[in-house]
Amino acid sequence: RLDVTEMFHGISFPGHLHTQDSLQFALKFPFQDSDILIVSYPKSGTTWMQEIVSLIFSKGDPHLSQNVPNWARCPWLEQYYFSEVLGSSPRAPRVITTHLPYHLLGPALVGSKARVIYVSRNPKDVVVSFYHFHKMANFLPEAGSFPEFLNRFLEGTLSYGSWFDHVEGWTSQTASTNNLLHITYEEMLLGLHGAIKRVSSFLKCPLLEDEVNNCVKHSSFNSMKHNKMVNYTMVAQEIMDHSKGSFMRKGKIGDWKNMFTEEQNQYFNNIFQSKMRDCALEPVWEE
Ligand code: PPS
Repeated sequence: RLDVTEMFHGISFPGHLHTQDSLQFALKFPFQDSDILIVSYPKSGTTWMQEIVSLIFSKGDPHLSQNVPNWARCPWLEQYYFSEVLGSSPRAPRVITTHLPYHLLGPALVGSKARVIYVSRNPKDVVVSFYHFHKMANFLPEAGSFPEFLNRFLEGTLSYGSWFDHVEGWTSQTASTNNLLHITYEEMLLGLHGAIKRVSSFLKCPLLEDEVNNCVKHSSFNSMKHNKMVNYTMVAQEIMDHSKGSFMRKGKIGDWKNMFTEEQNQYFNNIFQSKMRDCALEPVWEE
């Protein structure tokens, strides 16, 4: 079965991509100061940021991002093939992706100057995107009905754990380090040009105006939807069933309004308020 899960520190991870060894390896990973780490809860704009960072380092030239799959350019630290892919890529800086929460990965980063880009997204849009993704991704558990799925999201029992712990854990680090940039999916969608400039300056990789424009062009939803190196259409049908949906699904803000009932919205808001009470972060996700 493809949809077995690997329980690790109380969080379930898809067994198709993770093993106890690969997860354990991630927690002890020797980061280099030149490493760039893209961190996100699933469905928050991970693939988009992978594309943006690749394009920034190639000054807007799409050659790499149109010829090398995203999982080879910016591999996931916790997945089983990570060491092999990283070993075969001599490129510096290394761009590494992770969905791990701060309470698990933080210790490996202590004392490191690796730069972290944390991407967050309105959790209501995250849960809707994740729900649709569960329907097509055969390596994830059954989605069930949307109300059931929403409850699992709010309880924090979906794969990769709690969205609340994830966001709180990572964003609470921004105050104590200059090595972490927090950027939202909404900021990227509402102003991709400015967002790319912010990321490029964080990465100390200044770009000419034309180069920024090329990054914008090749990381637009439409370009990425048609780029098989990032749209996951190269993944076998039995792993991702492309007849049931598309990875590059809508790429919009506010799709949750098409799924949530008024009651679910109220319930969500109540839980959000109580869980985020101690989070210093202003609500940065526009509705
Ligand atoms: S994953 O599985 O965690 O790696 O997924 P992730 O890449 O984090 O999130 C997938 C959602 O991001 C949308 N996406 C984009 N939106 C706008 N512009 C661009 N360029 C873009 N690239 C990816 C993708 O469509 C998923 O969101 P939904 O709402 O499902 O469309």
